[in-house]
Amino acid sequence: MSSPESTMAEISRRMISAKAQQFTESVIREMTRLALKHNAVNLSQGFPDFAAPEEIKEAARQAISDDINQYAITWGAKPLRDAIVEKFERTQTVAYDPEREITVCCGSTEAMMSAMMAIINPGDEIVVFEPFYENYGPDAILSGASPRFVRMRPPGSAEGNWSFDHAELAGAFGPHTKAIILNTPNNPTGKVFTRAELEFIRDLCVRWNAYCVTDEIYEHILYDGTEHISMARIEGMRDRTIVINGMSKTYSVTGWRVGWALAPPEATQAIRKVHDFLTVGAAAPLQQAGASALRSPEAYYDRLAATYVKKRERLLKILSRAGFTVFKPRGAYYIMTDISRLEFPYADPRFDSESKDVAFAKYLVEEIGVACVPGSSFYNNPQDGGSQVRFTFCKKEETFAAAEARFATLRSFRSEI
Ligand SMILES: Cc1ncc(COP(=O)(O)O)c(C=O)c1O
Repeated sequence: MSSPESTMAEISRRMISAKAQQFTESVIREMTRLALKHNAVNLSQGFPDFAAPEEIKEAARQAISDDINQYAITWGAKPLRDAIVEKFERTQTVAYDPEREITVCCGSTEAMMSAMMAIINPGDEIVVFEPFYENYGPDAILSGASPRFVRMRPPGSAEGNWSFDHAELAGAFGPHTKAIILNTPNNPTGKVFTRAELEFIRDLCVRWNAYCVTDEIYEHILYDGTEHISMARIEGMRDRTIVINGMSKTYSVTGWRVGWALAPPEATQAIRKVHDFLTVGAAAPLQQAGASALRSPEAYYDRLAATYVKKRERLLKILSRAGFTVFKPRGAYYIMTDISRLEFPYADPRFDSESKDVAFAKYLVEEIGVACVPGSSFYNNPQDGGSQVRFTFCKKEETFAAAEARFATLRSFRSEI
């Protein structure tokens, strides 16, 4: 008789698609489940644990009271599309047509997937900077793209900016390149791409006739005077760029699932078709609330950035004191760290794992009571992230205080530095 494992393996082989077999569940979201299970302080998944702005919540309540309860037009409610266009033109000085160049989706996650499915053909390659936001791996597999990874190197100093080798990037482009996937400000590194870097990427996109799909979800979370420049603003790129964005991070509403793609008309037409048959549309009353959120005064965005400056300093200090080597982010709300200097009982069979970062993350959540994300989940070859883990700081003071108290026990394992 066959064992339950071999039966499962046989079912997978025969009945489950080869695509779905190529990736695992999200490690980031798994870490949140583990945090709940072990009653740990959750510094893993990037969702704020503080309230969303009162005016935005009120706008959502009002939309439901006003009976905006049925399907919105599939590519997005008109008031939200108008607000997205207005805001993008105000902040990035680039105009879009709300009738032909926007698709509102269920979060930027769906916008990215719909965009990839809209442009990728079998044999197409995409260029992806590494470390990368975990979703881009499965996005590539599901859309059928072959990824070519280009490494961003950890800064050698606090002022470094996860630079990439220009020749390596140029070498990743070729006749099969359909797009480069960009994420600025970047998760997990906190890198904010400079104008010069964007122009270098632009030249490659033009040379190889490739799109740039740019995930700009952290556009307002910036530090140290850095500026967010959308690739759509770089001369010659508007019509070969697909801008992905959403409400999740800017308005602290990750559970609302409202995002969008801005793209030239022919790409938008394809994105809208994919989106329609994937999800029909994002929640109608929340799109209505989004229209008023996107018209928040400048002061709202200034306050958001100022709040995150303090949170970044708080977590940088906590992690440095606990013995992590920290890479100071210029944008977004994550801190990548190096764990090489930390000692922990990774020979313990309970935490045994092929890679040190996973063993460390298990140890941290189970024994110390803090959840982080193992670095390997941001790399194509898991070994490459084996000495890194990522923490998020979109959390309230009580959460930092609880993490700080728990890290005190980690310090007893710290090796002499
Ligand atoms: C780079 C990046 N893109 C997209 C998302 C998901 O955004 P959304 O909630 O709009 O699907 C995240 C969430 O952590 C992210 O870090």
